This record gives sequence, C-alpha cells and structure tokens, in this order.
Amino acid sequence: MASFANPFAGNIPGKISKEELIQAIRLDIAGELEAIFIYDAHVQATDDPVAKKVLADIRDEEKAHVGELMTLLRHLDPEEAEHFAEGEQEVREMLEQLNIVTKTSSAKADSTIGSLLNK
Ligand SMILES: [Fe+2]
Repeated sequence: MASFANPFAGNIPGKISKEELIQAIRLDIAGELEAIFIYDAHVQATDDPVAKKVLADIRDEEKAHVGELMTLLRHLDPEEAEHFAEGEQEVREMLEQLNIVTKTSSAKADSTIGSLLNK
C-alpha cells in the first residue's frame, strides 16, 4: 500500500483519459479494501480500548470511501455498473431462496447514480 520511498510515485504527467481514470478508480477501491483489512487486523490485535475505538472508526470511514468510489465507478462506467447490478441481483435471489431478509432496505439497494442525481 504505502510507498513512501519514492515521494513522486503518485505523480502522473499530464491528464489521464477516461479509461485510465476508470482503471485508477479500480486501483483506489483496491487500496481502500486493503486499508479496511489492515485497520481491522489492528483492531483485532489490540486490547487497548481507545486504540480499538479509533482504529475501528477509521476502518469504517474507509468502508464509506469504498461506497463513494463504487458510486463514482458506476457513474464513469455504466456498462460495468450493469455487471455489478447483475451480481447483486443474483445474490438477492439466493437470499430469497434461503428466506433470508437483509438489513439493506430495497430503496437503498436499488439506488443508482441516476436515482441519486434525481434527489
Ligand atoms: Fe480511504
């Protein structure tokens, strides 16, 4: 994740294309997921209540970042968003078959970038 050895590693000469931006967002999502994994490991590894609370709060902020980036990715690549929606629907159908009701409200689960823009 962190690459402090080269302070210019993140510099990109010029502007990137939309396709490159989409790839960058995917990489950003991977970075957020890795951060969640690491913070959660540290929460589990300590009994210090203050450290646990602070690290868990940061971990949960990273989860919000995943949501932001996924929404951005859906906006930038609607075709990819269709694939995400297909996968989500497949799991919803499996949950229905198992008579499992999830906490996610249907209105929230059905949110798309289009529906969010209309609010
Ligand atoms: Fe983050």
